[in-house]
Amino acid sequence: MSQITVRQMNFNFPEEIDRYWCGNSLFKTHFFNSITLLFPDGEQFMLRTLKRQLKHIDNPQLKQEVSAFVGQEAQHAVQHEKFWHNLRQQGYQFDTYLRFLRFILFQVCENKLSIKFKLAMIAGVEHFTNAIADLILREDLFAEAEPRMKELFEWHSAEEIEHKTVAYDVLQNVTKSYFIRVLGIFIAYTFVLGFVNLGLVIMLYQDKKLLNFRVWQEMIQFLFTKEKFVLKVFWHSLEYFRINFHPLQRDNLFLVKKVIG
Ligand SMILES: [Fe+2]
Ligand SMILES: [Fe+2]
Repeated sequence: MSQITVRQMNFNFPEEIDRYWCGNSLFKTHFFNSITLLFPDGEQFMLRTLKRQLKHIDNPQLKQEVSAFVGQEAQHAVQHEKFWHNLRQQGYQFDTYLRFLRFILFQVCENKLSIKFKLAMIAGVEHFTNAIADLILREDLFAEAEPRMKELFEWHSAEEIEHKTVAYDVLQNVTKSYFIRVLGIFIAYTFVLGFVNLGLVIMLYQDKKLLNFRVWQEMIQFLFTKEKFVLKVFWHSLEYFRINFHPLQRDNLFLVKKVIG
């Protein structure tokens, strides 16, 4: 039996939610807004790829887990996309960004990559989201965020940890090649970092905060000196390079219980 639960959520984000909802930090808000722009289409790509792979999986347990993964990622996409309305209402325009993102995801990655590389990329993205999710819950990164946004990111983080083994096990089911696994995480990190930074620059520019001293100060604090986000995510990411790596080796399932019982 799969231990992964698909939860039907029904978030709503009133327009009064503060423009700088993440603890009044300009940088953190734009950073997580940028992630919110990236997630829905990224998750569509991942769930579609894994759904198509279902018929090639013989292991009934893994089959069930893939179905649950698909259900969870579909929920994440729907719930995060709801916040796009707030961002548009705050005056941000990101249709061109989305067209570019969709071109890379669906025309290039989905149509041109072989199934092995697609799965290796997805397992790499999942390791990245796991590193971020682990940090969010372990260090209570959203302690000062607006309560509905805190709930959205913490629920999403908990489910990312809950299904952390699925994409990796599907990849291992297709190939155990270390080279493909490692190449996949390089493609994944290049893709995610590229789009998160692009979204961040677009949001900051449109908010007329790109050259604001406070933003840069908050960025250095968040990424390097206070929360040390980059250093901790990088450190967690290195685990993936162990020859006998498996996502279960990291003890973080207790974080799921902390949020969703
Ligand atoms: Fe997700
Ligand atoms: Fe995920």
